[in-house]
Amino acid sequence: MAHVVEIKDLHKSFGELEVLKGIDFTVDQGHVVCIIGPSGSGKSTLLRCVNLLEQPSKGTVRVGGVELTDPDVDIDAARRRLGMVFQSFNLFPHMTVLQNVMIAQRRVLKRGKGDAERIARENLEKVGVADKCDAFPPQLSGGQQQRVAIARALAMDPDLMLFDEPTSALDPELVGDVLSVMRKLARDGMTMLVVTHEMSFAREVADRVVFMDGGVVVEEGPPAQVIGAPRHERTRTFLKRVLDPTHAGDDAPGPEDAPEPAR
Ligand SMILES: Nc1ncnc2c1ncn2[C@@H]1O[C@H](COP(=O)(O)OP(=O)(O)OP(=O)(O)O)[C@@H](O)[C@H]1O
Ligand SMILES: [Mg+2]
Repeated sequence: MAHVVEIKDLHKSFGELEVLKGIDFTVDQGHVVCIIGPSGSGKSTLLRCVNLLEQPSKGTVRVGGVELTDPDVDIDAARRRLGMVFQSFNLFPHMTVLQNVMIAQRRVLKRGKGDAERIARENLEKVGVADKCDAFPPQLSGGQQQRVAIARALAMDPDLMLFDEPTSALDPELVGDVLSVMRKLARDGMTMLVVTHEMSFAREVADRVVFMDGGVVVEEGPPAQVIGAPRHERTRTFLKRVLDPTHAGDDAPGPEDAPEPAR
């Protein structure tokens, strides 16, 4: 099976601080890989190295067979194959929802107005906010705004979607709508790399889970193993905290009941 993402011996330092200390893993076509791990373990830095918002200090990152870390690579062309969804939605507040989903299609992909609008509407439909085309982002709930941000990324026809804690800024009652859009994308065969604290989502949707701590991959494998039966003490300690931050250890509830961890 083709690897959409291939990361080899990836290191990243900020000055003296080595944040990524040799990361290796792959994401296969159509797979969902969830990255979990404590705050500061380097999860966002890893995603930012995959889309070259950060320059790795050492190692290689390949996406769709193109080595992004090759100094001669066309960075803009390579980045165009990636959709990125962050914790904050970064929509333009003075543009309508429809315009927000059209603008990069027009400017970056040079699509005509008619095509861009049709594709925008299709993707807004897919994420369930088609009725908000003419609204402005500040008039939408956080969950609706995040779904617009997902539609905006999808409209660029990415080979890979990167998500960095897409639900952690949302009120709890809005998290479900965003996760169900992500579930649907996964079912439709989108290749996804997702940093998340939503253990029930990871358990249900991920093909593989990567647990990071201190800039290394401590363990990875199918969710039933990494979340259900972790081999390493560090993974167990982390999961206990995430699944039940207040009563770690005593009669912890199932992952379905997991509250958002304190951050
Ligand atoms: N631009 C930067 N300059 C200096 N240090 C940075 C920079 N970006 C990240 N770091 C440091 O790198 C480490 C890892 O940060 P990162 O944001 O990747 O962690 P994370 O796993 O995403 O954490 P969280 O779960 O809180 O989002 C932290 O110690 C952070 O302070
Ligand atoms: Mg982060």
